Amino acid sequence: MNITWHDHGIGKKGREKLLGQKAVLLWFTGLSGSGKSTIASGLQKKLMAEGKLCYILDGDNIRHGLNSDLGFGAADREENIRRIGEVGRLFVDAAVITIVSFISPYKKDRDKVRSLLGKHFIEVFVKCSIDECEKRDPKGLYVKARNGEIPDFTGVSAPYEEPLNAEIVVDSDRLSVEECVSRVYDYLCKLQ
Ligand code: ADX
Repeated sequence: MNITWHDHGIGKKGREKLLGQKAVLLWFTGLSGSGKSTIASGLQKKLMAEGKLCYILDGDNIRHGLNSDLGFGAADREENIRRIGEVGRLFVDAAVITIVSFISPYKKDRDKVRSLLGKHFIEVFVKCSIDECEKRDPKGLYVKARNGEIPDFTGVSAPYEEPLNAEIVVDSDRLSVEECVSRVYDYLCKLQ
């Protein structure tokens, strides 16, 4: 391939020291409308208020740019997650507390990112029943999916594989947003 890895001298540890924090990849997975983005925003606000540098990689947003060429078939979702796993790895190397908020419905795709990130990967299952997500339907997408206007819609006409060994599970149909944020925050505090 004629490409050689270059060591630039200063690494993640140096940047973590500069920022006074430990970088991790918090991988939020869950159905559309489960509350991933809302909880991610709440967590970011809480951490930034304490001087911790965070960044949210959000599925809907990333699909406007970097991943705008991808659809919702299994192969495109796999590529979506692969790219975000790689981007997440760069952010963690930059010493940023990185919050990923993607449906990421396939266990094997999430597990590949787990292998890539090792101990830095923290899976957060935002657990909400399909009935509750459909009731909320914040973007009106479930109605469209039921009407057949959106093919391969997760939970309706495409699968969602629940994580079996997530580090954190937040029952977002039972807990308030604040309680969900606190669960993740408390876990994170033990690592810092
Ligand atoms: S993922 O499955 O590939 O991880 P991602 O998180 O990037 O999905 O994007 C999901 C968002 O795209 C949803 O929140 C929703 O707003 C929108 N969306 C549009 N079409 C679909 C679909 N067929 N299935 C799921 N979400 C969809």
